[in-house]
Amino acid sequence: MKNIASSLIDLLPKAELHLHIEGTLEPEMMMQLAKRNKVELPYETVEEVRQAYDFSCLQDFLDLYYLGMSVLITEQDFFDLTWAYLQKVHRDRLTHVEMFFDPQPHMDRGIEFDVVLGGITHALEVGRKEFGITSKLIMCFVRHLPEEHAFTALDCACNHKKEIFGVGMDSTEVGIPPRTFQRVFKAAVNQGFIPVAHVGEEGTADDVKEALDLLKIKRVDHGNHALDDAKLVVRLSKDQTPLTMCPISNWRLKVIDDLSQSPIKKALDAGLLVTINSDDPSYFGGYLNDNYRAVQQSLNLDEKDIITLTKNSFKASFLSDYEKQRQLDRVDSQVSRIQQS
Ligand code: HPA
Ligand code: ZN
Repeated sequence: MKNIASSLIDLLPKAELHLHIEGTLEPEMMMQLAKRNKVELPYETVEEVRQAYDFSCLQDFLDLYYLGMSVLITEQDFFDLTWAYLQKVHRDRLTHVEMFFDPQPHMDRGIEFDVVLGGITHALEVGRKEFGITSKLIMCFVRHLPEEHAFTALDCACNHKKEIFGVGMDSTEVGIPPRTFQRVFKAAVNQGFIPVAHVGEEGTADDVKEALDLLKIKRVDHGNHALDDAKLVVRLSKDQTPLTMCPISNWRLKVIDDLSQSPIKKALDAGLLVTINSDDPSYFGGYLNDNYRAVQQSLNLDEKDIITLTKNSFKASFLSDYEKQRQLDRVDSQVSRIQQS
């Protein structure tokens, strides 16, 4: 008989809250788009692309991630990319996604903001109509470019407040503290965007505190190193500030040596609102349910833990209270069905 935790992972509705759409570009699509758009890549075959995905740290991955993006040129390309992701995660029973996109590197290579946004939002709309998947978009500022550059992206986002819900911050972390982007975050919050940030992935617990205090973030993306600071853990638990953790990503970027070192169980036991996500599934070799399965096995999570993590995915989302409750009710009724079968 199949164990219940594994059926719960396969069948429960869930949300994904830490997903870079550019990180879903599969090698097959990368090669197809390179051909379609006549973009030169340093690879001849899909196998060569896959072989290059052997990372020793975050920067190693980022170099390939930005190279991979270079094949995305037209609105149709951004549509195809987003639609391919939605089709995959629909099979994982995903019902809600809060998706990051990185407009600055695209703008830097001459792709218009509206081309990027247009393709993504069109696919999200089709996903809502065809699969009932709801979504929110979060525009990330990239830390490797100056704050002035982030202001240019913010200006563009201000013309699309209906389509863009929040702002985030990603890319290189070490050596670029959150305070570097304090002004642009303040401006974004003044414009009504909800702030989140990647912190404590390779950076420290102090970086997490700085992002909470100065950038006023409402959710911590990764946040692994927050667990190094007992006082911060109490604060995050008391405020129920969500953490969007990405176990396979952490393992593939050597943030942890193996999956048994994932801090997810420790975070759950400390009462944190922790969630499981895939980050850049094509580059790290695992979509949403693969991440649940990986930690269930390596941390020996039981049925109760899987239900908590699944429910956390909705509780930690930016859905309205009404929508959260509707999703949580669907989880409960599916749990009863699985337990009775
Ligand atoms: N960390 C920082 N930057 C990123 C990531 C990540 O996990 N994925 C895409 N850009
Ligand atoms: Zn990320």
